[in-house]
Amino acid sequence: MNQRNTLKINGAGHLEIGGCDTIELAEKFGTPLYVFDEAYIRNMMRTYKKSLAENYGGNGIVLYASKAFSCKAVYKIALSEGVGVDVVSGGELYTALSAGFPADKIYMHGNNKTPEELEYAVKSSVGTIVVDSYLEADRLDKLCADSGVKQNVLIRINPGVEAHTHAYVQTATPDSKFGFSIANGTAEDITRYILSKGNLVLKGFHCHIGSQIFEKQSFVLAADKMMDYIAAIKKSTGFEASVLNIGGGFGIYYTDEDPKLTSEDYYNYLKALCDEIKVKAEELNIGRPFLALEPGRSIVGEAGITLYTVGAIKEIPAIKTYVAVDGGMFDNPRYALYQSKYTVVAAGNMSAPCTRKVTIAGKCCESGDIIAVDVPLPEVHSGDIIAVLSTGAYNYSMASNYNRNAIPQAVLVNDGKAETIIKKQTYEDIARNDVIPERLK
Ligand code: LLP
Repeated sequence: MNQRNTLKINGAGHLEIGGCDTIELAEKFGTPLYVFDEAYIRNMMRTYKKSLAENYGGNGIVLYASKAFSCKAVYKIALSEGVGVDVVSGGELYTALSAGFPADKIYMHGNNKTPEELEYAVKSSVGTIVVDSYLEADRLDKLCADSGVKQNVLIRINPGVEAHTHAYVQTATPDSKFGFSIANGTAEDITRYILSKGNLVLKGFHCHIGSQIFEKQSFVLAADKMMDYIAAIKKSTGFEASVLNIGGGFGIYYTDEDPKLTSEDYYNYLKALCDEIKVKAEELNIGRPFLALEPGRSIVGEAGITLYTVGAIKEIPAIKTYVAVDGGMFDNPRYALYQSKYTVVAAGNMSAPCTRKVTIAGKCCESGDIIAVDVPLPEVHSGDIIAVLSTGAYNYSMASNYNRNAIPQAVLVNDGKAETIIKKQTYEDIARNDVIPERLK
């Protein structure tokens, strides 16, 4: 169960993933290149499913939070593993549906879904919509009335659990833009409001306390508070929630500052949640809710690496050495946004000792365009391939065309084979939607 990762050093001293030599991948597909390890993704999906089956009698669903990495191939993998998905925009919904993903296993999120997105979701018969505002409740109820639909919904609740993670990825603090707070009574108000809506079928509640969290206790506490809330609402309104969606957020390994979790650890995170919910159900004398969870990062994060070609190397004596690569914040904005840390390796020279610390810079016209600061690396030269590890989550999905750089291609590797799952953008793709008004021609 421990062997999740197919990353290894092969006989040539090269980094290998999914049985593929990364130097050969770089030669064949070019760089920058996102590489995804299919076995890893499947193993993580199976781990969560197994834990849910063994610790909660299978009375629930694993939803892959596809904001971490959304493309048709990953929805196909989710489908074949029997997991559902969480989508958070019309674009993610479209991608899932066009990959043939069944609408009833899709949960739709968003703190400000547009009227078009709501209409698209209802017309597509999306299984569950997670409501996060009065405006949305009104719009959705009217839309359902007009289309003769009874829509299953959950309400996004803020349980007020502060998890230790970056402020931008905390979502259950008192000032969060997400959800309705249990503590200040707004959760109960919206619950009553939704119960009064004729076309919305309230199934239960959702919460998500944040991302890249390692403390089991934070998840357990959130489950605890949500169960207390379900019991309190039952008492005050008579409504008993049949669904509890506990969100995602399990952390992954980026650098030695993070714990390196095994599949068993992730299995146990979920087990701890299941155990707590079972105990609370008994204690509060309420039914065990159908349990949904939404892991994103932990399913795809460590499955992905990014390969770059080293370009210019700039030494600023006594200050630092910049190693510039052919990518940057347009394919991975996470250092620029969160000062996230990454492990970087010389993919073609894995056994060489790290002799110095360098800063990996991107090619954008911006000083903040950095991939990693002061990372240990062996001697590298222009033309060498370096790999940044754990880039599977929130890299491609947060990529942009800044400076009109092309978003790189992605390949899926498995058993020594590599297949393109996202083509590299062409210059034509980048300028495709530009329009020159007549008067400027
Ligand atoms: N469910 C909901 C409602 C969410 O908002 C999220 C993440 C997830 C599930 C999945 O959480 P995960 O298992 O991936 O931690 N861009 C940031 C991460 C933002 C996460 C947003 N919501 C980053 O690059 O770290």
